Amino acid sequence: MTHVGVLASGNGTNLQAILDASQAPKSIGARVAVVISNEPQAFALERARKMGVDAVVVNHRDFDTRERFEEKLIEELDSREVDLVCLAGFMRILTPLFVRHYQGRMMNIHPALLPLFGGKGFYGDKVHRAALESGMKFSGCTVHFVTEETDGGPIILQAAVPILDDDTAETLAGRIHKKEHEIYPEAVKLFAEGRLEVTGKRVRILVK
Ligand code: GRF
Repeated sequence: MTHVGVLASGNGTNLQAILDASQAPKSIGARVAVVISNEPQAFALERARKMGVDAVVVNHRDFDTRERFEEKLIEELDSREVDLVCLAGFMRILTPLFVRHYQGRMMNIHPALLPLFGGKGFYGDKVHRAALESGMKFSGCTVHFVTEETDGGPIILQAAVPILDDDTAETLAGRIHKKEHEIYPEAVKLFAEGRLEVTGKRVRILVK
C-alpha cells in the first residue's frame, strides 16, 4: 500500500477526489496518510478530518526562512513514511531542498495543458484567462512529476476539454476541474502500481 501525503492550501477538491478513490471498493492501492496545509483555515483540512485522516497545519508565517518551513514539512511527511507527495493547490513555491528530497515521488496538478500556460505567475484564474486570450480551442489539465523547473517536470497524464465561445475563466475552470478529479487519482494509482517509467521528460505507462 502506497502512503500518500497531500499538501493543499485551499478548498481541496482534488484532495477529496484522491481520498474518495483511495477508499472506494476498487481501491487505487494508495492511502492518504496525512494532509498538510500552510493555511490554518483551508477547507482541505476539514475534508481530511471528516475522512479520519491526519490534518496538520504548518503555517509558513511561523518560520524565518523557506528552508525551515520545508524542514518541518519533511519531518511531518517522513515521520509517516510517505512514499508519494501530492501537491493539490499548494500555494507555496518549493525550494530545491524540498524538491530534491522527493525527487521522482512528488506530483502536482496544473489546470492547463503544459507546457502551455505554466511556470511562475501562472496560477488560479490567470491560467484560464491566458488560455482564453490565446484563442485556442482546447485547454485541459496536467499531472506531472515535480522538478526544480516550475510546472516543467515529466508529464504523467493530461486531459483536454473544449474552450467554448461563451466561456469565462470561471466556466472554463469548472470544466477543467471535473477532469482534474479524474486524472489525479488515476496518476496516483499508476504510481502505486509501479507503472510509471521516466526517461528524460517522457513518462511511459507500463502495462502490467
Ligand atoms: C486546481 O485547479 C489545480 O489544478 C491547481 O490548484 C487548484 C486546486 O483546486 N494546482 P482544489 O483546491 O483541489 O479544488
